[in-house]
Amino acid sequence: MGDTNFLVIDDEPVIGEITSTILKRMGYDATYALLGEEGVQFATKQPFDIVITDLRLPDMDGIRVLERLKAIDPDIVVIISTGYPSFESVHAALRAGAYDYVSKPFESTEFSFVIQRAVSYRKILIANKNLRAELADENLRLEHKVKARTADLRLVYHIARRVSSSLELQVVLNQIVDLISRTLKVETCSLLMFNEESGDLSIRAAQGLPDEIVKTTRISLSDTVSGWVFRQGEAILVEDIEKDPRFSRRNQERYYTNSFISAPLIVKDKVIGVINVNNRKTREPFTKDELRLIKAITREVAIAIQNAELFRTLEESYLQTIKTLTSVIDAKDHYTFTHSENVTRYALVLANELKLPFQEIDDIRKACQLHDLGKIGISDYILTKPGKLTDDEWREMKQHPGKAEEILKPLSFLSNVVRLVGQHHECYDGHGYPYGLRGEAIALGARIIALADSFDAMTSKRPYRNTPMTKEQAVEEVKRNAGTQFDPGIVAAFLSSFDKFSCCP
Ligand SMILES: [Fe+2]
Repeated sequence: MGDTNFLVIDDEPVIGEITSTILKRMGYDATYALLGEEGVQFATKQPFDIVITDLRLPDMDGIRVLERLKAIDPDIVVIISTGYPSFESVHAALRAGAYDYVSKPFESTEFSFVIQRAVSYRKILIANKNLRAELADENLRLEHKVKARTADLRLVYHIARRVSSSLELQVVLNQIVDLISRTLKVETCSLLMFNEESGDLSIRAAQGLPDEIVKTTRISLSDTVSGWVFRQGEAILVEDIEKDPRFSRRNQERYYTNSFISAPLIVKDKVIGVINVNNRKTREPFTKDELRLIKAITREVAIAIQNAELFRTLEESYLQTIKTLTSVIDAKDHYTFTHSENVTRYALVLANELKLPFQEIDDIRKACQLHDLGKIGISDYILTKPGKLTDDEWREMKQHPGKAEEILKPLSFLSNVVRLVGQHHECYDGHGYPYGLRGEAIALGARIIALADSFDAMTSKRPYRNTPMTKEQAVEEVKRNAGTQFDPGIVAAFLSSFDKFSCCP
């Protein structure tokens, strides 16, 4: 089999056969047809490189044959053969696109020369054709790439604008997750932040995960994919986790599927969290382009988080001012500057034991620091009275949660905190004050603060009781009040985490 395929069209069978035989001897493949139409039909069924056609055929002339063959393959090389070469006929053939012509009877040297030249020409044409196709493919690929990059840039810009429009960190985080999920068409996206106190990662915003998982999942920095990304500070694309030797044994995070992207959130060279993107709706594995996109997004997102954190620092400094005020009140009321600090520490132990989401824990922390702020409106006489309070004095004392609510109400960023402060003296059985709320109607954070507040009160010196309770006595008192003053669930958390309450006498 030669690498060039010839078609010979000549109405004289002898010439057709001889020409074919010569071509085969020269190392090419050759087929011959007796009529123009027959040749055209052959060319529609199989590709030919070079056609040698008689100029005069019974059913059509060679120029018509040439036109029809060129319509099938524009790069086909056509040589006209004629027994009566005239300037006009040769000129017409060349003008119609013939490559060359040969006179019949063929003169061996001339024939061989024309054939070899045509073969070389056809090879060049094919090489050019392939190159053109490759270039077209490359152009198409580049065009797609440019379009994809432009779309990516637009997306990153859009995300950066959206997330920068808010200074509320939780709003920023929710927006990030929402935009990534929608634009990458994924079912699951989660944003994890490092928790300095517990030393693990908790889910701060998520799409496509059950609330229970978002609230309770704590991800260790060791032996998890997110932990690996956090520690390395490196984004990863995993096409199939089961086949990836780095992570097969770390695939313990319930919400992962086989293919996912996990990228660190880095602010000022410090890794502060991880974004996980998984469960693509099409079930196809993620690509390197998507990894690059997520990296670009996380860079922008980190800036928005940084801005929100700066705002949070401002909030904190504002809170600090109020805290200073409460510590003065603490001192008046409890003979100690540390009551609010103790309550905060105990409440955080309980909140972590109950695996509350970060935002709730943060609200509880702020509420603990502010819980007795309302005592600023209670007379010093009542606050420092050594004996039992009269009914009227007690009535005034019970106003302190409401007074704190009034003071803090204008601070919209503290709205959740204000609710906890206002309810910190409510009792589980409905006998507390000021609202007389019962059971779950009392905010969980307020139920936690109530226990922490009482525990510190029991174990500290009070104006009406010089000797504080011992640790054991206080524990018994808490147990005795489970279901009445305290939420039994929180009492259980108190008992199971008691070894972390380090400040008792
Ligand atoms: Fe109080």
